[in-house]
Amino acid sequence: MKNREDYIPIPAKVVALRDETLDVLTLQIKPDEKVTFRPGQFFLLSVFNAGESAFAFSNDSGDIECSVKCCGLNTQAIHRLAIGDFVGVRGPYGNSFLDFIKGKKDIYLVAGGIGTAPIRSLLQHILANRNKFGKVTLLMGARTPADLPYMDELMALRKNKKAKVDVILTVDTQPEEGWKENVGFVPVILDKIKPKTKNSLVFVCGPPIMIKFCADTLSKKGFKGDQIISTLENRMQCGIGKCGRCNIGPVYVCKCGPVFTYDDIKKMPKDM
Ligand SMILES: Cc1cc2nc3c(=O)[nH]c(=O)nc-3n(C[C@H](O)[C@H](O)[C@H](O)COP(=O)(O)OP(=O)(O)OC[C@H]3O[C@@H](n4cnc5c(N)ncnc54)[C@H](O)[C@@H]3O)c2cc1C
Ligand code: FES
Repeated sequence: MKNREDYIPIPAKVVALRDETLDVLTLQIKPDEKVTFRPGQFFLLSVFNAGESAFAFSNDSGDIECSVKCCGLNTQAIHRLAIGDFVGVRGPYGNSFLDFIKGKKDIYLVAGGIGTAPIRSLLQHILANRNKFGKVTLLMGARTPADLPYMDELMALRKNKKAKVDVILTVDTQPEEGWKENVGFVPVILDKIKPKTKNSLVFVCGPPIMIKFCADTLSKKGFKGDQIISTLENRMQCGIGKCGRCNIGPVYVCKCGPVFTYDDIKKMPKDM
């Protein structure tokens, strides 16, 4: 895009749609101008006659992809879009997961719920640059098997020996039958897989309660706050540090984040 600070959306066409789960839809959007983005960054997606909402890029390059959980008016309007419809996009905004990776590290990707969207972007980046990373482990959880997005991709990833990614899946409670993966909350399974602290980084995205329990588990295992990296998804309006909608005390999540170390998150005022 010409100018990251530009408040005016550029037109973009919906070129593909894929249902991930009952309430999560992945869109592929082709903007009129090339948009270059990095894993962890976000953009504002507007639907005419509905409104504008922030979404993480769920892919690493090319046309924009995002995965949208249906929860209110804007996201309902997004779920009604059809291939060929026009939307508005502006961004990319915010910092990137990549800003926190210095040197060749072992990477743990830990995702729950719609937090899998930004993690997918980072995973794609790692796969495209595989020799720059050490051991890669992906732990992904959801309430039920039907709530796990990107399952086809994950199954293909498991079979791809060159990718060298250990894919671990879990659901909160025992499903009826046929489930051969883990059962238990993400932080419990994270504890069980015994992540190694040495030369490692853990990227955790998901509901705040999951992030907190994962960080507690990791801290008990000796991980330092700057080895645990997460995103905050405070409600946003402008996305460019002007409206004051997203701030936590002096921290503007849209400008200073949305990616933060757990050390940074711990310093933020608790009542926000
Ligand atoms: C940086 C960033 C990245 C995001 N990435 C994604 C993504 O990849 N996929 C995705 O589905 N969503 C993502 N979100 C959340 C998304 O922006 C909201 O779900 C969306 O704006 C809701 O709009 P709505 O009009 O449909 O819902 P509303 O009518 O505004 O709200 C419906 C319900 O959702 C709750 N809600 C709305 N926004 C948020 C929020 N930011 N945090 C917690 N609860 C909220 C409301 O309290 C309400 O209960 C992201 C948000 C931010 C700030
Ligand atoms: S969203 Fe407006 S200041 Fe952050």
